[in-house]
Amino acid sequence: APEADLAGRHVVVSAGGTREPLDPVRFLGNRSSGKQGYALARTAVARGARVTLVAANTALADPAGADVVRVGTALQLREAVLKAAADADAVVMAAAVADFRPAAYADGKIKKKDGEEPAPVALVRNPDILAEVSAERSREGQVVVGFAAETDDVLANGRAKLHRKGCDLLVVNEVGEAKTFGSEENEAVVLASDGSEVQVPHGPKEALAEVIWDQVVPRLAPRRA
Ligand code: C5P
Repeated sequence: APEADLAGRHVVVSAGGTREPLDPVRFLGNRSSGKQGYALARTAVARGARVTLVAANTALADPAGADVVRVGTALQLREAVLKAAADADAVVMAAAVADFRPAAYADGKIKKKDGEEPAPVALVRNPDILAEVSAERSREGQVVVGFAAETDDVLANGRAKLHRKGCDLLVVNEVGEAKTFGSEENEAVVLASDGSEVQVPHGPKEALAEVIWDQVVPRLAPRRA
């Protein structure tokens, strides 16, 4: 059995990808499968944590022992994460959250009309949940972890994002056409606000999850009596 170094801790993990509806049958979405977030939830349960998994549009079996909250949109994910974060020791934002959502929702299916140009889709910004959780720190010593998918200048962009978001750790993946999304494997660098940098070689998402918890545990507040 692994060491129960998360015993007595409540951790919140977001997973999957949000869908932002245009009408009853269409949405703007992304390719996140939720596998990395589920691996984080499973490994945290194994290390003794109480786990709240906020799952956005995933098609994966509920991890045994985790409380699963299902959400669809970024706004729903925000509500579920903020609620669960209120008494959390760590919050890990592995979900791919849409930066924008359609400004309007059509109650009926949007129709094409012969000879008419398609109407442009107006978008509005979604709140940045990771930045919000980082700024709020609803519990003293709460450790906040973000993810970033970068295609170029991975380390420089990752460092800048870590500071912009205000989180403690940022897990940076290099993404390309066949890399990361839906895959069983991942390769990443875990950047910390204290300057440390841990390279995680290509391997199973479970292995990356363990390294992330290894980085979270020493940064947690001392256990309360
Ligand atoms: O800014 P970017 O989308 O690259 O940042 C990715 C990180 O920020 C992920 O941890 C993601 O869960 C989080 N995020 C968020 N709210 C958003 C967009 C991203 O919490 N609106």
